[in-house]
Amino acid sequence: MSDEKALKPDTPEEVRFPDHIFVIFGATGDLVERKLLPALCRLMRSGGRSVILGVARADTGDAEFRALALDAMKKAGIDDESLEDWCAEAMYYQGIGEGDAAAFEAVRRRIESIEADHGLGGDRVIYLALPPKAFASTIYGLGAAGLNVAPGWVRLVVEKPFGDDLESARGLNAQVHQYFTESQVYRIDHYLGKQTVQNLLVFRFSNALFESVWNRERIERVEITVAEKIGIEDRGHYYDGAGVVRDMIQNHLAQLMTLVAMEVPPAFTADAIRREKIKVLDSVRPLNVEGVVLGQYTAGRLGGEAVQSYRAEADVPSDSDTPTFAALRLSIDNWRWQGVPFFLRTGKRMATRCTRIVVRFRGAPVQLFESLVQDGRVDASPNELVITLQPDEGFDLLFDVKAPTESFKLVAQRLRFRYADAFGQLPDAYETLLIDIVTGDQTLFVHADEVEASWSLFAPLLADPPPVPVHPYWSGSWGPEATRSLLATWLDAPADDEDAAK
Ligand code: BG6
Repeated sequence: MSDEKALKPDTPEEVRFPDHIFVIFGATGDLVERKLLPALCRLMRSGGRSVILGVARADTGDAEFRALALDAMKKAGIDDESLEDWCAEAMYYQGIGEGDAAAFEAVRRRIESIEADHGLGGDRVIYLALPPKAFASTIYGLGAAGLNVAPGWVRLVVEKPFGDDLESARGLNAQVHQYFTESQVYRIDHYLGKQTVQNLLVFRFSNALFESVWNRERIERVEITVAEKIGIEDRGHYYDGAGVVRDMIQNHLAQLMTLVAMEVPPAFTADAIRREKIKVLDSVRPLNVEGVVLGQYTAGRLGGEAVQSYRAEADVPSDSDTPTFAALRLSIDNWRWQGVPFFLRTGKRMATRCTRIVVRFRGAPVQLFESLVQDGRVDASPNELVITLQPDEGFDLLFDVKAPTESFKLVAQRLRFRYADAFGQLPDAYETLLIDIVTGDQTLFVHADEVEASWSLFAPLLADPPPVPVHPYWSGSWGPEATRSLLATWLDAPADDEDAAK
């Protein structure tokens, strides 16, 4: 392309992808500022090339958008003297007000003129970083203005949540497919961009050692936990209408479960992998609400500070019943997993931040050391594989050893791998996903059928009022006590606050 100034590279690994225009609808929103712009900027610094057009309602201009972008990058810790020049030469803004037909036409003309100025060949990413209620009209506007076709390729990127139940997701899919083919659509679930989540595929399908024990014969249960210390921050408006099932379970936790449970795909291609994931969702036994615990955080202490209850958060009604915690027991009715419970748990304001998958293996068929158990000389636990997705990414394999003491004694030890030790800092999930969008790899994006299968599975939990009581739990705890009725021995990560877990 043209003459825009390249940013100073900050990684040795060069990113290579075709020159294109990256059009962001909802360009002044929080997600764009916190995640998207810093990720785009980091990619540009490592050799990528894109010209960015921000589109939003506000009637401002290029200069204001560039200032917003500069600020976002500085907040993200990117400090580079060439940033300002780069923003000036590769970032533009177009206001669309209420988004009528004329406004979309104007966006099209602006894209064409930027492409002409920069000598671009007409490859376009259209990224919808919009609240769900704005998707439908934007997709219609794009289609009506002919923005679903271009001289090169067009890829439509849609942020989560995709719909807010099965019916709305179906409606949205139908609308998207009116103008775009499925191979043009990239539905984001940023968990799939995390290196540790992608590594689940490598871990399972490149290491025959694990694959041979990855079944009902050898595995007793699987626990998937996404615990967050943060509350809902300033998103009360969105969150109170969504709740934990729409915000986390239907997407992030469902994705983790499918990656753990899926069959070996016939090839490492987007279609093959996504087909296997859909089969898992289709094989999950319909939810039984007896296997569900919901909760909502009350005031407590975290990080040495008092934190307020969910009901006291801004934009949340003081009698809200929206759950901020869920724990579920699921069964997958297929040959590999019949009889193995999958426990899913996620919540806000929990004792610590920790995303992990625990695979507990069955005990030895004959307990040779039974007498030691009776004597209390066994401090061992069942074999467990603990895959930590964040923070402190890595995995631990727990196994028993004989302690070198005079009396025969067993203790549990761990084999430990940490990403940081082997590879240093991991790239941000958004950077990974952006590279895939621009290079046209859909493996880490959610297929239309997958999104519908997942909404259909969790539909019983979306009833209003909730189908089971919403138990209060202390901020800084591991969720409501009732969770123990599902699983008495959840493996909790140690809290990193002295005052956590009351
Ligand atoms: C988002 C949810 O999708 O994921 C947030 O809307 C949640 O509520 C976030 O905090 C968690 O993402 P991460 O990458 O911090 O685990």
